[in-house]
Amino acid sequence: MGIVFCQEHNLFQITTLTTEYCIGITDERYVGHVYYGKRLEDARCACLLRTEERPFVPSTNQRDKGAFLDVFPHEYPVWGVGDYRESCLMVRDSQGYRGCELCYEDYRILPGKPKLPGLPATFVREDAEQAGGGQTLEIICRDRILGLKVILRYSVFDDSDAIIRGVEVENEGTRPLYLEKVLSACLDMDAEEGYELLTLNGSWLRERRIERSPLSYGKQGVSSGRGESSHQEHPFIAVLEKQAGQDQGQVYGMHFVYSGNFLAQAEKSQYDSLRMVMGIHPEGFTWVLHPGERFTAPEVVCVYSDQGLGKMSRIFHDLYRGHLIRSPYLHQKRPVLINNWEATYFDFDSEKLLAIAREAKKQGIEMLVMDDGWFGRRDSDNCSLGDWVVNERKLKGGLKQLVDQVRKEGLLFGIWFEPEMISPDSDLYRKHPEWALQLPGRKGTLSREQYVLDLSRPEVLDYVYESVAAILRNADIAYVKWDMNRQLTDVGSSYLDSDHQGEVFHRYVLGVYALQERLVQEFPKLLLENCSGGGARFDPGMLYYSPQIWCSDDTDAIERLAIQEGTALLYPLSTMGAHVSDCPNHGVGRITPFATRGHVALAGTFGYELDITKISEEERKEIPGQIALYHKYQMLIREGDYYRIASWRENHCYDCWQVVSKDKKESLLTYVQVLAQPNVRSRKIYLKGLEPGADYRLEMEGGEESQILSGRLLMQGGLLIQRIHGDFISRLIHLTQV
Ligand code: DGJ
Repeated sequence: MGIVFCQEHNLFQITTLTTEYCIGITDERYVGHVYYGKRLEDARCACLLRTEERPFVPSTNQRDKGAFLDVFPHEYPVWGVGDYRESCLMVRDSQGYRGCELCYEDYRILPGKPKLPGLPATFVREDAEQAGGGQTLEIICRDRILGLKVILRYSVFDDSDAIIRGVEVENEGTRPLYLEKVLSACLDMDAEEGYELLTLNGSWLRERRIERSPLSYGKQGVSSGRGESSHQEHPFIAVLEKQAGQDQGQVYGMHFVYSGNFLAQAEKSQYDSLRMVMGIHPEGFTWVLHPGERFTAPEVVCVYSDQGLGKMSRIFHDLYRGHLIRSPYLHQKRPVLINNWEATYFDFDSEKLLAIAREAKKQGIEMLVMDDGWFGRRDSDNCSLGDWVVNERKLKGGLKQLVDQVRKEGLLFGIWFEPEMISPDSDLYRKHPEWALQLPGRKGTLSREQYVLDLSRPEVLDYVYESVAAILRNADIAYVKWDMNRQLTDVGSSYLDSDHQGEVFHRYVLGVYALQERLVQEFPKLLLENCSGGGARFDPGMLYYSPQIWCSDDTDAIERLAIQEGTALLYPLSTMGAHVSDCPNHGVGRITPFATRGHVALAGTFGYELDITKISEEERKEIPGQIALYHKYQMLIREGDYYRIASWRENHCYDCWQVVSKDKKESLLTYVQVLAQPNVRSRKIYLKGLEPGADYRLEMEGGEESQILSGRLLMQGGLLIQRIHGDFISRLIHLTQV
């Protein structure tokens, strides 16, 4: 494992546990992509660059340099001198000319992985640093005419199959340069016959649905220009073989560690080459680099799997648990919470909250989270954002008194904020209208009757931070839900000059990161949950600050199956905010059994979002049992390997997934029958990830008898799930090695 340079073949070889990535340097000093796939360990693969195909090599054929540039597999393609496929870098000089050409100059292989200033990034854990932990290759390229230096970064970790890509651009010249596009990574490979593109798409209440489509000629992809990673499209693409499934087939996945605008695209060219690119969306983006300044692009995680999507998912999960999430809660039990949003919406006061807290405590719930509506004059969503002063009409005696009372009842206390926003009807807006993002002379576009704060302004950052921190300093608060309920429009800043207006989208995201960094530094024990109108900012960037993110405002157990399946394609289950809510479900009106709601929420952080004082006695009685299940399985769910067994999205009948402990001694299978079918036999499902030679005791939660079967039998022969009568019914089966 590691990174080496083979002088004889002018080749960099980056190896991970099972994969290899090779980069070649041509005689003309172009940096080309040679190979990405299963470990190869043969530097002669440098021949795959096809530089022997004479007509196209510029040194022997200047006349056709354009044709060469348009077919060569560039590690980092640039715009303007002959490659017409999607570029990664577009630079305008101070006279307005655009164009750039990069030449390889040097390289460095560093131990560990450099930090990215102001950005979330994967890292080598301190305890692993001494043992080596990881390595980074820096390939240094220059455009001497522009005075531009570009560093291409590739990092690997000893215990991971992921390769982390990044780019840094520096102005070494004497005049300003304008970066009009700086994508973070490109994978220039061959488009093999029958490749498909996989993306995660959706909307509010329908986030991250898996979608596959044939890879066709031209450009296909997903993007966001909404200022956040978005409900609609996710900063992830995978190109995979048509026959690739959970356990077989080749998959190339790219995931962006960023929370703002993005472009993720695959392109099949005239020569059947495949170019995958990912980075900050160039629309609305220009970054000015003055002499001596640097721009660091957010990083991209690349994963190759030769064993389908399942292996890819597990590589992402392990990487994010092992090298991205910093919160102390990563390996700690998270308190079972009850959130009052779907219980009361804005209509609550201390008495109501205390009644919920008391009943919750009786049932074994450990934390009360007070959601939107506790500050300013906020009785609906049309005022007060920005006025982070407690509403004493609702919370008599103030926030501290309520927190103390809840703490006395034996529960922890959590609170909701939406720090990035400002309501036109707020004292803050009346005082500082210039603090909202805005375009001169235009009335800003309202959404949920609110504007977005200009987080490129230092005084706004200070105000926002101090508002949140003051509340946390003054009361015993264990948890914060950080919400963001609208997407960006009118992206202009009255603080910045005309040269810097193209930076506002990115500066906004940097502002969010700076705020959350301050928060986790000052309150290291705080459990932070990110949220954005449901799951619109569920991305790896936010995981650097919070160990969990609210998955979706859709809390219906059946709708959640597809949302959680898509989310778990990339994210560990421990990151997915999931609650048991009331029925008929507020989003879709569906009625599902309380037990099923519990089983589905168990595949996430687990908690409740209902008025526990008002639900039926029968349902309330089920809560202690559900919480016992959470305590019993939370370690396994949080730390185990995830296997997808069946998808209701595909079979229209049932959903099934499994978590297996790393030592394979324990596993939990969740089966949800969505729609019952008449006159069918028991269903056979094939388990995964078990020790073939070991015997397992199988116990169905709520069932009486247990069974002992071998791992081999369960995986090869299958397990019979007895016919279930009724829709929306779930089973939880626990396996322990005997
Ligand atoms: C959107 C969140 O996703 C909900 O859970 C809730 O906190 C509301 N915002 C409050 O406005």
